[in-house]
Amino acid sequence: MEDLTPRFWEVFWEVFGSLPRQGPGNRASAVKALAMCGELPEQAAVLDLGCGVGGQTLQLAELVSGHITALDSHAPAIESLEQSVVERGLADRITAVVGDMAQPGQDQESFDLVWSEGALYSIGLSNALKVCYELLRPGGYLVFTDAVWRKDNPPAAVKASFDLDYPSMGTLQDDLTALSTCGFELVGNFTLPDEAWWDDFYTPMEARLAELLPQYADDPEATAVLKQVAEEPEMHRRYGEYYAYEFFVARRPL
Ligand SMILES: C[S@@+](CC[C@H](N)C(=O)[O-])C[C@H]1O[C@@H](n2cnc3c(N)ncnc32)[C@H](O)[C@@H]1O
Repeated sequence: MEDLTPRFWEVFWEVFGSLPRQGPGNRASAVKALAMCGELPEQAAVLDLGCGVGGQTLQLAELVSGHITALDSHAPAIESLEQSVVERGLADRITAVVGDMAQPGQDQESFDLVWSEGALYSIGLSNALKVCYELLRPGGYLVFTDAVWRKDNPPAAVKASFDLDYPSMGTLQDDLTALSTCGFELVGNFTLPDEAWWDDFYTPMEARLAELLPQYADDPEATAVLKQVAEEPEMHRRYGEYYAYEFFVARRPL
């Protein structure tokens, strides 16, 4: 996606930056994954990698005690999260930082829980797993979501779409193998339910697109970006059975 123009990213963020989340996920799934972290300390040190505007970070602050460091490489996303943190009086619970998860600038073995929804793939899953392993204390939990193929031979349009953003996307078994190769113990995994794609993500995305398309009617470049973004929920409606988002809960051995 590196050859996309600055204008593309500007319009893209006008859509995505306004959404509660920048990827699929919901509170019920976070609650389910957290319930699998049976030995999390009461005051857990949590790191949310690729937090976006912090949809899941703010939920985590309600669901776990302790401090959350939320990191994303996109400065406007972190500014948005900082604003939400102040508005909700959570400044003592959440620290939002601009950073690269490949070199997160956090102490090794300093977190009880590393959380990441739809973001680890950005630096290659195996590479990201190594980074997470080193950040976790022995016995610490890694909870993340990742897109996986559910069926062989996806339609060309679906394959082409994932090839743009996640060309190395594998199957559930590929991710389980990557976890075990990195030294993690699998606690469990489950597939995100369909509502987790819609409630906080595609439904508000389509509403935002409906708002912006008339505003940009005289701007062919922006209109083209908006139409490209609109293909994603449409693809999910038609071909969602070919891929899934899987929630993984794994543990660095004690
Ligand atoms: C699909 S979005 C998911 C955001 C959020 N976790 C959510 O589910 O709403 C992926 C996020 O990862 C961030 N990201 C991509 N590469 C990154 C990197 N190397 N370091 C930190 N964040 C990164 C992007 O800026 C984006 O906010």
